[in-house]
Amino acid sequence: MACGPDADVMLVASGIVKINVVTIFPEFFDSLLGISIVGRAIEDGALRVEVIPLREYGLGKHKQLDDTPFGGGPGMVMMVEPLSKALEPLAETHRVLLTPAGRPLDQATLDRFAEIDELTLVCGRYEGVDQRVADNYIEEEVSLGDFVLAGGEVAAAAIVEGVARLLPGVVGNPDSTLTESFRDGLLEEPVYTRPAQFDGDAVPEVLLSGDHARIEAWRREQRLARTRERRPDLMSDGEKSES
Ligand code: ADE
Repeated sequence: MACGPDADVMLVASGIVKINVVTIFPEFFDSLLGISIVGRAIEDGALRVEVIPLREYGLGKHKQLDDTPFGGGPGMVMMVEPLSKALEPLAETHRVLLTPAGRPLDQATLDRFAEIDELTLVCGRYEGVDQRVADNYIEEEVSLGDFVLAGGEVAAAAIVEGVARLLPGVVGNPDSTLTESFRDGLLEEPVYTRPAQFDGDAVPEVLLSGDHARIEAWRREQRLARTRERRPDLMSDGEKSES
């Protein structure tokens, strides 16, 4: 089913993607890389992930990574030298800093990242990252959303998984990446599976009718109603006036 303003969007990415992740917590990524879609993408050779422990680039015998902010204020700031040493050899890659000050992550950004041969995700920590890192070693700053986490690792994990599922052969049914929420600007409709009755709660009759035209009409109605209620900002003027 192809509908909505982005119907001509790329179904899946076309090639192998390598993602480098620069982090002070490399072990954070162990389970992500071993299971489910990401694990499968790596096993199939569609995705390569290299986790780069930033601590190795720390200064002095304590491998220092952060220092107090010039001008005063709370917390610590990640220093420029360790990150410059880690990121200079990756200058040919598309380097992305994860920070709450970045542009919000969305499906269009994931689609774009899935088309890039080599991506580097830089996980910020502490109160922030020395601005000279972003000025000299970063192509783009991205945020997971309008909230503050302890660091960029969760955002990097979201990007790795969001990209992995776009790669060729990784999601079993390619239709599912086309019809899902955000692909055509609407949230997904509710879905049901067996049993048809649970605790007196029945699956909507239309889904058991076998009438595909009615089912499609019902699904579109549900998508419109859900999006109108929860995310009216996603809707076009035409969709807003659809009943
Ligand atoms: N680090 C801390 N908060 C973050 C956020 N919202 N997105 C990306 N990186 C972050």
